[in-house]
Amino acid sequence: MFDLDRFIADLRATLSERSRQPMREVVARAISDPAALIRGIGAPDKAGVQVLYKSPELTVLNLLWAPRQITLPHDHRMSAVIGMYEGREDNMFWRRVPGASKFQIEAAGGQALGTGDVAILGPDIVHSVVNPLGKISAAIHVYDGNFLEIERSMWNAETLVEEPLDIKAVVQGMSVQERDHRKSATA
Ligand SMILES: [Fe+2]
Repeated sequence: MFDLDRFIADLRATLSERSRQPMREVVARAISDPAALIRGIGAPDKAGVQVLYKSPELTVLNLLWAPRQITLPHDHRMSAVIGMYEGREDNMFWRRVPGASKFQIEAAGGQALGTGDVAILGPDIVHSVVNPLGKISAAIHVYDGNFLEIERSMWNAETLVEEPLDIKAVVQGMSVQERDHRKSATA
């Protein structure tokens, strides 16, 4: 049985830790039983960003990637824990190029995530994400700050020039939905 209020409380309890490993373990536990998680937060049947919780210290999103969706490269400026509970997510990591004559960022590696995988992304990470599947992929994304409201950057797809983040441009076609987690927890 997945209890969203309990999940949020368990995540909050890890915020004072220096490491994000305890937060990772809470997310790993939540996605270890996708069927129970889906009973708690709803089935991933429509692409979008569902805000499960937000506060100045913690943001919890249910990311439902549309089939073949891609994001622009973007930063977070806080740590993130990503737990996949359905489908796949390919992460491409980028690094800044000091004094760049052409592109301001360059590819620096990647990580394929599948159902059951949990990744910690450090606060300096710049990444872009692909859902390589022809169906929705779903992941819980946890950030240790006010993720939806701080100033962040994205990088233009054609020029790779850093620009102020526009969430609609980063995740094209996805709406960000506030969600009353008390209702969804009992739905
Ligand atoms: Fe991201």
